Order: sequence, then C-alpha cells, then structure tokens
Amino acid sequence: MQYGYFDDKAREYVITRPDTPLPWINYLGNEGFFSLISHTGGGYSFYKDAKLRRITRFRYNNVPADEGGRLFYLCDGDTVWSPAFRPAMTPLDSYRCRHGLGYTVFEGKKNGLRASLTVTVPMHCDMEVQKLALTNESSEEKTLTVYGGVEWCLWNAVDDQTNFQRNWNIGEVEIEGSTVYHKTEYRERRDHYAFYSVNAPIAGFDTDRDAFLGQFRGWKEPLAVEQRTSFGSIASGWAPAALLRLAVKLAPGETRTFLFRLGYAENPEDRKFTALNVINKEKAHRMLASFGTEEQFDAAMEELRAYWDSLLSRFTVQSSEEKLDRMVNIWNQYQCMVTFNMSRSASYYESGTGRGMGFRDSCQDLLGFVHLIPERARQRILDIASIQFADGSTYHQYQPLTRRGNADIGSGFNDDPLWLVACTCAYVRETGDFTILDEPTPFNNEAGTEVPLLEHLRRSIGFTVSHTGPHGLPLIGRADWNDCLNLNCFSHEPGESFQTCSNFESGKAESVFIAGMFVKYGKEYADLCERIGLRNEADTVRERAVNMEAAVLAHGWDGEWFRRAYDAFERPVGSNLNEEGKIFIEPQGFCVMAGIGGAEYGRRALVSTEKLLGNGFGIELLWPCYTEYHDYLGEISSYPPGYKENGSVFCHNNPWITLAYCTVKDGNAAFDLYTRNAPAYIEDKSEIHRTEPYCYSQTIAGRSARTYGEAKNSWLTGTAAWSFVAVSQGILGIRPSFDGLTVDPCLPDSIRECRITRLFRGTRYEITVRRGAEKGLFVNGAPVPGCTVPLTDAPVCMVQAVI
Ligand code: GLC
Ligand code: GLC
Repeated sequence: MQYGYFDDKAREYVITRPDTPLPWINYLGNEGFFSLISHTGGGYSFYKDAKLRRITRFRYNNVPADEGGRLFYLCDGDTVWSPAFRPAMTPLDSYRCRHGLGYTVFEGKKNGLRASLTVTVPMHCDMEVQKLALTNESSEEKTLTVYGGVEWCLWNAVDDQTNFQRNWNIGEVEIEGSTVYHKTEYRERRDHYAFYSVNAPIAGFDTDRDAFLGQFRGWKEPLAVEQRTSFGSIASGWAPAALLRLAVKLAPGETRTFLFRLGYAENPEDRKFTALNVINKEKAHRMLASFGTEEQFDAAMEELRAYWDSLLSRFTVQSSEEKLDRMVNIWNQYQCMVTFNMSRSASYYESGTGRGMGFRDSCQDLLGFVHLIPERARQRILDIASIQFADGSTYHQYQPLTRRGNADIGSGFNDDPLWLVACTCAYVRETGDFTILDEPTPFNNEAGTEVPLLEHLRRSIGFTVSHTGPHGLPLIGRADWNDCLNLNCFSHEPGESFQTCSNFESGKAESVFIAGMFVKYGKEYADLCERIGLRNEADTVRERAVNMEAAVLAHGWDGEWFRRAYDAFERPVGSNLNEEGKIFIEPQGFCVMAGIGGAEYGRRALVSTEKLLGNGFGIELLWPCYTEYHDYLGEISSYPPGYKENGSVFCHNNPWITLAYCTVKDGNAAFDLYTRNAPAYIEDKSEIHRTEPYCYSQTIAGRSARTYGEAKNSWLTGTAAWSFVAVSQGILGIRPSFDGLTVDPCLPDSIRECRITRLFRGTRYEITVRRGAEKGLFVNGAPVPGCTVPLTDAPVCMVQAVI
C-alpha cells in the first residue's frame, strides 16, 4: 500500500497521512547549514558537522520516536494542534507533507483554520527559515495563540547526551526583542552562537525547556501551551530552548504569515562581545534582516527551484516508463546530492556522532555526483586524497569540520586506495580537467608533504600490487568493501570493534573483490596515464591488471561463480566448498564489470547469482546465510541470517550486478533487477518495505530474515551513486569518456525508444534512442563509427542511436 504519491511536476513526494511506518524524512541545506526534517516536523540541524556543531537536539532511539524538532502549536479555542501533526498530535481535518528538493511543506487544516508551514534552508545562508501562513477559513473572527520553538543542543552532540554533570550547569541564552540567542560556552572557547527569531512582536517567551513543559509533560502537551501563556523563563543551566509565543487575530478569510528563523553565526575572537559576556549580534541582525519579509522568502524558494532546475537539466530521460523517468530525473539525483553532502554521517540511522566522511564511501558518492557540480567534486577529491598516507594506504574516515583523518577507525581497509583512482578517473572523464592531477596534495594533511594528486593515485595502485597474498590476490586487511568480512580479526571480546580489532595479522587473507576492482580501475588508471603521455606507466599497469586477471582465473573462479576471498588459513570463502556463504554478490559484480574471463564467465557468474541470490527485492549479499558465529569471518557472521551483510539485499551492490548485466549486454535482466528495488517501483509495497519510497535504503531484509522485504538505513548509502551510474551509464548507456560521450544503451525490450539530454563539457547532447534495422550512431544526421560521439565545441549536438 501507499502513504502518499509522487507529484513529478512539482518534484515532490506528497505524504497524505502521518502514520507512515517510519519517519519519512528530507534534507535541507547544501553548504554549511543542514537540517533533517521528518514528515511530522521532527529532526535536527547542524552546521557542517553533525557531531561537533549540533544546533538543535535530537534523541535517537527515543520513545516515542522522532519527538521534538520543530515545535509549533496553534491554539484555536479549546483546540491545540500542530501543522505537521506533531508535536500536538491532534487529529487534523486534513494533513499533507510535501517533501521537495531542499524544502518541505506541511499543510494542515482544523476547525476552519488552515496552516501552511514551509521549511527550507535558503542557499548561501546559515539559517533554516520556516514560513508559517495561517488562514481563517471560517466565518468567525479567530483569536489564536501561536507557539514556535526549538530545543538547543549544547553543540557537541556526543557530550550533549552524556556529560550531564557539566551540561546541566552551562546553558546560557540572551533575549532581544523577538529573538532568543543560544550562547552556551560562548563565554569561553566558542566563537559561535545560534538564534531563533520570528519577524513579529512576540507576546511572550520561554527559554527554559522544563519551565515551558511543566512537570510530567512532554512536547505533546506543554504546560505553557495548555495555559496559553509563557513564563518568561531565562535558561540558566539545564536545557535551554527558544519558545516564542504570538497573539494572532484573524478576520474571516484573512491570512497572516510569519517567518521563524533558526540561524548560526560565528564571530572573530576579538569581536565576540559588545559588553561583558554580551554577544556581538551584528551578524544575526544582518541575517535576520535578509529574511524578514515574505518576498525575501519567496525569492529564496524561487532561487532554490531554479538551482535544481539547472542541476537536473544536466541529465534527463523521457521514456515510456514513468517510474524510471521519475527516479532518474528527480529522486536518484537528489539522493546523490544528499550522500555527497553527508557521506554516512547524519541521518535518522546514522547518528551523526559516530562516522564522519568515509574514504571509500565519499569516493563512491562522487561517481553519482560528479556530473552535477564538478567543481565541488574536484575539491572533495583533493580533501579525500589529503588523508592518504605516503605508502598509499589511508585513513578510513575524516571529520568534515577538521578534515583530519579519524584515528579511532584507523586504516588498513585495503580497497580504500583504489576508490580514489575510481573517482578521480570519473572526474577527469566528466570534465576533461587533467589539471587536477597536478594539484599539490599532502599525505595525512601534513604541510610540506604535498605531491601532485597523480602521485596519490600511483601510490594507490602501488599499494595494491605490493600487498598481495599466497594466491597473488590483494590482501584484504581490516576489510574491503564488505566492512564485516574481517578475516584478520578473531574477536571474542563483547563490544570490540570488528573493524579495528587486529589480533591475528595473518598476512595471508586475500580478497577476490579487490582483485576485480584492481582489474577494472587499474585499466582506467592506465587509460588516464596514456592520455597524459605516460605510456610506459600505462603499459606496466596494464600488465599488472593482466596478471591480476590471471590470478583471479586461477584462484578466484569457483566453477560456476567467482569466489569471494581466502581466509587467514588460505581457505576459500564464497565457494561451493563452504557449507554456508557459498556465493557472495560482490565479486560477481566487480569481476564481471572488469571483464574477467570475458562474457562467457560473466554470463555463468550471473546465472548463478540470480539463481542463488535473487529475490523479489533484488540480489542478496550471500547464500546460504551464516547461522552461527565464526571468528575467522568476523562481523558478517554476527548478524542474524538475512540482515545486513549476512544475506540481506545490500542495495549498494545491486547496481554492480545491473552493470554486470549491461557488460554482457543483457538489457532485460539489467532492467528487471533495477526495478526490483528502485524506490518508485516498490512504492506500493510501502507497508512491507517501510522506509521512504523516494530514496534508497542501505538494506532490505533477505529471505532468511523474519521480516523479509523490510528496508533499513534509508538515505545515506552508496546505493544512490551506484544506482545512478547503473541506470545512466549502463541501462541508458550514456558514459563520459576521455574522448567524447559514449552512447551505448542496454535497454530492455519493453522500452522501444527514449530521449535523453546530457550536458557534457559545455555541450548539450540531445539524444534519441530508437529501434531500427540500420543500427548505429548518427551525429547531427551523419553516421559515426563506434559508439562514442567525438568532443565538439558546439553548444548543442543532436545524436541518434539506432539499436
Ligand atoms: C556501509 C559502509 C560502507 C561499506 C558497506 C558494506 O554502507 O558505509 O563503507 O562498504 O557498509 O559493509
Ligand atoms: C557495521 C555495519 C556495516 C558498516 C560498518 C561501519 O559493521 O554492519 O554496514 O559498514 O558498521 O563501520
């Protein structure tokens, strides 16, 4: 069943009832200030870093879930309600939540009062702006008491939830007119403050959460709201909040609009104060003045719309498949932006307090993002490369605020270095900007160690070939893409991290998956070298790829599929010889994409994949699932069967199989798999799948799980980028290459024709794909050999692909 519908014209998902199976959220903000917002107004905001600069408080694993967030109460006679349904939870006469690109609108109606609450983070602005429009649709005058509010987080989100012996003493605020300023720790080492304000005179305020709530009460029915008053509380320690009260009269038919603004500002050290401990509020004043009127707000919404119009016009498809078009043209690209911004840091499942930016994760996210804003991709590549070590290995994660490698997680994930090659090659193919390869880039962020970026790639390649095991396959280290296949960790300590535990450095455990990666990305690196005149290096790396391919064919082929790994005792993993975990998805995807063993091996591997791993939602990660814990395999066998890495559909690697199908030219199988978990295609199974029907989730429980079909960890997953790569470069076949734009569709029989626009290196390609007897590629009417449209300076290029 469905809980809403897609409005493609508005580029919105419209949720029509508050009781979705889980909070269905959206992301606001694109640069510094970010907010998460659920379909009932929950969520939180932060500046750049969800751990170190949390602005509003959120309680993960709260009961009930998703409480707090945007605290709006409309008191109309005896009734108190919230435009987003929560926090008041009074049943509404009508409710709508429209999640759009960078904004969310709530439309509520109750007893002849209509409220529309539009929430966005305007571009180039460190504020969330909430426009509340109230319309009296009754025939009587209404006298309303209106509250809007937020609860502050004391900046460090981990500390905020743990260090109460200190925290309950440090909260401080200032009040000025209709603005509450949050300045905890500003008196000492912080140079930043936050504020919450409304563009109208207030009738009262509270800044002490507990005074506002009253004893034994939660956000559903605060004492102040029940009494239609404010207590004027000034937070001093405990839990500072900003709760503003307005007195509003509405004549029949009248609409009044208010702008609530939640902002963040920094001051230079020598301009922090205007008097002893009094914040210099100049910046806030300026920011508030820039969003003081409805016109300013509407202009910001218009700017946001134009921004997305322009971004999304870079790749569009028009086909007979409405759901395909919807995913490609809107939601998949939107999710690519979100994963680019967040990596795996802040969602409703990633607490924002644990993981920062992942090396492999962010490199992969770039694959689906680079066509949108190449300049930002460029900077990200340099940031990521800067945490690499001189030997080619790398920190696994970094904090976005400091851009420093995260020592807690450390290094030793031996696939990491190759992802840097993958995203840099993708960037250069997209942009033709070879100058990135010359950018001086440090190791481990140490000044003075800078070498050209190309040298980082070279060391990535070098690291892989110099760390191989008994079968000539790459050593796996802590783990490869599969974080939970921990072959050098024999953990028996409850709670010990499987990723950092290293008590058995076998120096032997090998990964067939990394071998597949090396063959694929080694060849891409060689192509890159060739383009910049490094012929010898290109030849050497190609030769290494050939050797690696031979090693895979000799030791990585199991007979009907590719093996996964060799463990610390040189025993195969992902082989028919195993009792459980006989076959894994990852090497099937990567070895087939890399062309190992050619189409013949590819087809056989894919037949096994579908037969043994296929279910209604896609391809499971492994089969049969592990039923007991094996210390020589690690975390993978810690999960109950059917969940996470132990045999769920781990959506991230399903597009690898889609691409593998395209590699062997099986368009029907590629598309069939694509549709099995593309969100728009399973919208009508929302009561089973449960997470948002407009974005991918990390996993969907497999057949062995009790809750087969249930998705978890929505939003922050490499699925976004890889799905976009699979559908745009595989199924639709539009691939940027060094020498032009490749047009090589691999469509299912059911799609007879389609039209694609692609902005590539300054040229708009208008591409028509159709079926016909006279196959080939025609550029501006003239046939061209092969399937690559040569580069051109023309602003527009008309392409016909007859397939
Ligand atoms: C998570 C991690 C990613 C890893 C995957 C499989 O999504 O963020 O880095 O590859 O799990 O374990
Ligand atoms: C856990 C998860 C895995 C994730 C890893 C990140 O192992 O199962 O998906 O990649 O944590 O550290």
